[in-house]
Amino acid sequence: MGRCHVSILLSALSATLVLGACSKDEPRPAANPPLAQVIPAPSEVVGAGGAFALGPGTQIAFEGAAAEPAARYFAELAQRTQQITLPVSNSPTASDTIVFGVYPDAPNDAAEGYSVRVTPESIVVAARDQRGLFYGAVTLWQLLSAKADAKTIPAISITDAPRFKWRGLMLDSVRHFQSPQYVKQFIDWMALHKFNVLHWHLTDDQGWRLEIKKYPRLTSVGAWRVPAGQAAQKNIDPATGKPRMVGGFYTQDEVREIIAYAAARQITIVPEIEMPGHASAAVVAYPRLGVSRNLPTAVPEEWGVFTTLFNTDDATFSFLEDVLSEVIDLFPGEYIHVGGDEAAKDEWIASPKIQAHIKQLGLKDEHELQSWFITRIGKFISGKGRKLIGWDEILEGGIAPDATVMSWRGIDGAVTAANAGHDTVLSPAPDLYLDHWQSDADTSPGRSNLLSLEMVYKFNPVPEKISAAQAKHILGIQGNLWAEMMRSAARVTYQAYPRAAALAEVAWSQPAKIDWENFQKRMPAQLARYDRLGLGYAKEIAAPPPSAMNRSSHQLAQCGGGYLLSLEDDAPIAGPRAVFLVTITDPCWLFKGAEIAAGGALRATVGQIPWNFQIGKDKDGIKLPKPATRDGELEVYDGKCEGTPVAVLPLAPAAKNFATTTLPDAKLDGVSGKRDLCLRFTRATLDPMWVIDRVELVGPAQ
Ligand code: ACM
Repeated sequence: MGRCHVSILLSALSATLVLGACSKDEPRPAANPPLAQVIPAPSEVVGAGGAFALGPGTQIAFEGAAAEPAARYFAELAQRTQQITLPVSNSPTASDTIVFGVYPDAPNDAAEGYSVRVTPESIVVAARDQRGLFYGAVTLWQLLSAKADAKTIPAISITDAPRFKWRGLMLDSVRHFQSPQYVKQFIDWMALHKFNVLHWHLTDDQGWRLEIKKYPRLTSVGAWRVPAGQAAQKNIDPATGKPRMVGGFYTQDEVREIIAYAAARQITIVPEIEMPGHASAAVVAYPRLGVSRNLPTAVPEEWGVFTTLFNTDDATFSFLEDVLSEVIDLFPGEYIHVGGDEAAKDEWIASPKIQAHIKQLGLKDEHELQSWFITRIGKFISGKGRKLIGWDEILEGGIAPDATVMSWRGIDGAVTAANAGHDTVLSPAPDLYLDHWQSDADTSPGRSNLLSLEMVYKFNPVPEKISAAQAKHILGIQGNLWAEMMRSAARVTYQAYPRAAALAEVAWSQPAKIDWENFQKRMPAQLARYDRLGLGYAKEIAAPPPSAMNRSSHQLAQCGGGYLLSLEDDAPIAGPRAVFLVTITDPCWLFKGAEIAAGGALRATVGQIPWNFQIGKDKDGIKLPKPATRDGELEVYDGKCEGTPVAVLPLAPAAKNFATTTLPDAKLDGVSGKRDLCLRFTRATLDPMWVIDRVELVGPAQ
C-alpha cells in the first residue's frame, strides 16, 4: 500500500475528495515541522503548510460500522472541549469532511497503530482495527484542542503506534471508595492519554468492594468500616447508636456498566482479588477463612501490613474459586490479578495446622506454601482460559508457571521474572507510585518522597539488567494510585495528573521521541485541555520562602527518623481539614533560624490524629516522652531536643478538640535572637498522636 491508498478506500466519497487525498494534498514535509500538540508523542509527524478549517459545513463521516464509535467519540470530544458541533454520518458530502475508516490495508499495520492525515481540504483518520482508530480520534482531538478557541487543525501527517502493550494505571478503590460515576470519569481521562489497562484494586484489609452473589457478607459486612480516630468514634449514627461507617461497593450491574464504558474507550480492566494476605475484610465477613484465634471482628481502619492471612483449607480454596468464577464471568479481560504482596507469614508460622499442612505437602517453609497457594489458584485461572498476574512476591518460593509478575519492590522482580522467561509489568515503588508528593512545595496528604513530573518522565521502562533477548517480556508500565491518603475522588485526580501524562508518554512513545524539553513544550496545551475537561490536576506551586517568624509543619524540618507522611486530620467530620507533615515513628520538628524577640513567646497550633499504622516491629522502637500532666505537653527546646525545655505548652486546652487548636502563647525562657527550636510532644500512649500544624513567634506581651 502506498500513500494514495486512502483515495481507493474512500470510494464512497466524491471524486473531489478522492483526488484531493491522493494528489495535490498529500502532506509534504515542511522546512520546520510544527510542534504536534499531542501527548503521548506520536511515532512520526510530518508537517505540511496550512490548516483544515472547521466551518458550518464540516461534517464527520465514518466508513463502515467499525469506524462509527471513533467518529462519534471525536465528535463528542469536539463538542465537550471546543463547543463545536459536527454532524456524524456514513453518507458524507463532497468536501469539508473528516473521514474515519477501518481498512484492512490502512497505512499503519503496527498493533494499535493508526494514521491521521490532515490537509487544508480533508482529514482522514485510518487504522486497521477499531482500537487503532480510537487512538487516531484521540490524536485528532488533541490537534484540534491545542487552543481553547481553535477552529482549525494544522495540516499534518501522523503515523503512530505504541511502544508497550500494557499502559496502565492502578486505582485503589478499597482504602477509599470512589463512586461508579467517578470510576467512569477516571477511565475517560485515561482514554485521552491512550492508557489501555485499568488495574482495579478491589479487595484489601480495609474493605471488599465487589459484589459476589454467593458470599453476600463480603460486601454487607466487608465493605464498611468506622474511620480511624476519635472524631469518627464520636460521630454516632442515630439509627444504630454506633459510630457511622464509611465504605461502599460496586454491584455486578455497576461493574458490567463500567467494563462496557472502559471497553468503548479501548481500556481493559484487570480486577485484583488479594490473596493470601490483605485479607482482613474477607476474614471479618467469613471468619472460617482465617488462621488465628484472634481474628479481627471489624473491618480495620489502619494502614500498613497486616498479619491476617487466608488459611489453606480446601474449603477456603473453594471460596476463592467461587469468588474468582464470578470475577471471571464479569471481567472479560485476559488477566486476573491475585495480589500476593505483603503476606506477612506470622500467622502461618504460629499455626500448628498450617505447619502440619506444609509438612504434608512436603514443602520447606511458608514461602513455598505461598508459592503452592498461588500455583493452585493459577491452575484454576488458566483452566478458565485466563492468565494470572500478581505482585512480585509471587516469585518467592518458586513462581507459578505462566504467571505474569508485576514488579513493585523496585524493578528487581521484573528483572528476575523477565530473565526467567515470565512476562512482567513495571510499577515500581517509589518511581511510579503516584501517592508520593509532587513537589517540595506540595502540602497535600501523601507519602513523603518527591516524585516530580520530570522523575516520572525520566523513568526507564527497560532496565539494563534485562537481557535484550528477554526484553520482549516487558509488557509495559503502570502507575499506582494507592488511596490511603486520598479520602476523596478529587484527591485521586490531583495525585494522578499531570504525572499520568508523563507516564502515558513513557508507555506509548518510541524511545527516540522521549524528550523532556519537548514534552514540557506540549504540557501547557495539555493543562489547558485539563481545565476544559474539568480535570482537577496538581498545579505547579512555588514554595513560599520560609519565614523566620512562622512556619507550617511542612516548612519545619523533621528531627526524628523513620516514616515521614503528610497526613490529613481526622476532624472535623465535615468541612476542610488540616494536613500535617509528621515522622510517625518519632514526631519531632525543628524550627531552624527562628527569630526570637527578647521576652518573646511561641504560639502553636496543634492537632491530634489517630495512630493507625501497621508497621510491625518498627512500632516497638517508638519513644513516648513521659507527660507531666494528664493530657500531655508540647515541649520546646533550644537547639537539640534535650535538656530543659525553654517553653512547655500544656495540651489540656486542646484535648477535647479533635480538630486543630491554637494553644495559649508560651513565653520562651531565656532565649532570644536567631535560634533553632526543637518541638516535640509528651504522651502516655501512641494513639492519638499530637502533631504541629503551625508555629509562630510573637513579641513580648504588652
Ligand atoms: C504494594 O504496594 N503492596 C503492591
